[in-house]
Amino acid sequence: MFANRADCDTVNPMRHLPAIIVHGGAGADPGDAPDEIRDGIRAAVLAGWRVLADGGRGLDAVEAAVRVLEDAPRFNAGRGSVLTSTGTVETDASIMEGDQLRCGAVGAVSRIANPVTLARHVLEDGRHVLLVGDGALQFARAVGMPECDPADLVTERRRRQLDAATADIKGTVGAVALDRQGTIAAATSTGGMSGKLPGRVGDTPLIGCGTYADSALGGVSCTGTGEAIIRAVLARRALDILRDTEDPDYAAHVAVDLLVEQGRGEGGLILLDAKGRIGYAQSTIFMPVGWMTPSFHEPQVPF
Ligand code: GLY
Repeated sequence: MFANRADCDTVNPMRHLPAIIVHGGAGADPGDAPDEIRDGIRAAVLAGWRVLADGGRGLDAVEAAVRVLEDAPRFNAGRGSVLTSTGTVETDASIMEGDQLRCGAVGAVSRIANPVTLARHVLEDGRHVLLVGDGALQFARAVGMPECDPADLVTERRRRQLDAATADIKGTVGAVALDRQGTIAAATSTGGMSGKLPGRVGDTPLIGCGTYADSALGGVSCTGTGEAIIRAVLARRALDILRDTEDPDYAAHVAVDLLVEQGRGEGGLILLDAKGRIGYAQSTIFMPVGWMTPSFHEPQVPF
C-alpha cells in the first residue's frame, strides 16, 4: 500500500493495472427484470472499461459507467429516478478523483438527464464542490448542458410505485475505477428515496458520505438510506477501515455493519483499493454489482 499520494504518483506512473467496479443500488430482489438489471450493469462496466483499456482517465471511466445507468430506466438515477411526494424527479450526483481530491456534486436537480456529468462540470470548474436546486440548473445552462422536460425523466413504473406508497425504495448507481496512471475515481448518482419531500438531499452528493476517492487508499460509492449513510459518514470511513486492514472485502463488510449499527439504516457499498482489488457488501437482500480487470475477458456480473 502506498504511504501517500505523492509516492503513488512517483513510484512508477504506468505500472497500475486498471480496474472498475459498478453497482446498481441496494434494495429488494431484482423482481421481474433480472435480465434488464444484468444487461445494464454489464453495459456500464463495459463503458467504463473501454475508457480504462484505452489508457483513459478514471474520472472519464466512472462518468461513462454512471451515465449508462442514468440512461437505463430500470435504475434509480437519471431517467427512471424515484419520485418525490409531489411526483417530480429531483436527482443528486457526485464525482471525485483521488490524486488532488478534486470533487464536484449536485443536489435536488431537475431537468438534467445525466446529473453525473453536471457534477463533473462542477469538479472541472473548481470554484465550488456542491451546487443545488435552481443554482445547479443555472450552472448547467452556463456550461451548455442539455436540458430536458422534467416529465421525460418520470417513468410510469415510478408513478405506480409512488401511488402504491412504497416509500422506501432504494437504488442509486455508482462506479469506482483505477486507471493506468494510478488515479482512483468514484462517482454516484441517484433519484433518492421514493416519496421524499421536495428539496430533500441525501448522501449521494455529500463527499465523504456517498462518494470518496483517495488514490493512496482507494475509492467508494455507497447506496442505501441516505440519512443513515450521512450519520455514518460511510464512504470516508470505509477507506479508513481499508487503511487499517488492507482487505477491501473485509473493509466493505465492516463499513456496512457501521451503517446498520451506527447509521441505523440499510444499504451497501462498492470499494476499490489502490492496487485495484475489489470489495463490496450490503445489508439488503440484493445489490447488483459488476466489475472488470485485466484478469477477465468480459465483465463479471455475479447474479
Ligand atoms: N442513497 C441515496 C439516497 O438516500 O438519496
